[in-house]
Amino acid sequence: MSDRLQDKVAVITGAGSGIGAACARRFAAEGARVVVSDIAENACAGTAGALAEAGAEYVVAPGDVTSREDTEGIAGAARDSYGRLDVLVNCAGITTRDVADVPDPDERWQRVMDVNLKGTMLMCQAAVEIMRATGGGGSIVNIASIMGHIGYPPGSGLSDGFSAYVHSKGAVVQLTRDLGAALGREGIRVNAVAPGSVETRLTESLRANPEMFAKLLARHPLGRIAQPEEIANVILFLASDEASFVTGANWMVDGGYTAA
Ligand SMILES: NC(=O)c1ccc[n+]([C@@H]2O[C@H](COP(=O)([O-])OP(=O)(O)OC[C@H]3O[C@@H](n4cnc5c(N)ncnc54)[C@H](O)[C@@H]3O)[C@@H](O)[C@H]2O)c1
Repeated sequence: MSDRLQDKVAVITGAGSGIGAACARRFAAEGARVVVSDIAENACAGTAGALAEAGAEYVVAPGDVTSREDTEGIAGAARDSYGRLDVLVNCAGITTRDVADVPDPDERWQRVMDVNLKGTMLMCQAAVEIMRATGGGGSIVNIASIMGHIGYPPGSGLSDGFSAYVHSKGAVVQLTRDLGAALGREGIRVNAVAPGSVETRLTESLRANPEMFAKLLARHPLGRIAQPEEIANVILFLASDEASFVTGANWMVDGGYTAA
């Protein structure tokens, strides 16, 4: 490990699990001071425990990214604890499978949009305000998806064509372009990654279905799905000064899914 984020203060949402937790561990190993945030307080504690064991500097700031008050509190924890905010990684996200028990279809759609799109937007707003106030620019990495660039394959059984997940991730791609264009002059870079399938809680039910999982593997030219650390590697690059001329970009991290 090295010091690619030495002295940087990084806020990570969805840090209790999966890609966010992998980012928290990796960023800390690269010298960042990490604000660990998630709606699930016990999940935050799990990640915090790993950081404590590694001797990292961190604070825990649980919250719901769909609430403006909470997002201001999460970003504010960076300012209050460390006097600045250099990096924001928006990993909080849900799929349509997470809202399957909500009876009203309009509400199901809205909940996914609220977490994935509104939550990302609110966190960006709260972080940018602090980046501006403290100066020195910053770097934001949003988590889109291959499903922000393409639709679900016909006959996959994963969408009826009205999938809020697809809609929300496509909008995150555009949010990233819009913000990247708007904030460049202020030294604030905004990029997104678009992962293919990753071995996290989010894909648990798909991986538990052997037929579905075989189809999923077949769609990734590398012949496997990703480990969360492989997504965190690219997020780390985009967050760091090594990506100093990259903004408004959407990086596919998909094992070739969208190339095939
Ligand atoms: N796993 C994949 O295959 C995959 C593929 C493409 C994109 N992504 C995206 O990556 C991101 C991270 O997903 P993951 O795979 O690590 O899933 P995950 O379920 O392991 O982690 C998501 C985290 O977000 C948190 N969260 C949910 N709603 C929240 C809210 N309202 N406020 C704050 N936190 C909230 C959850 O508690 C959870 O800890 C998501 O945006 C997801 O859409 C995942």
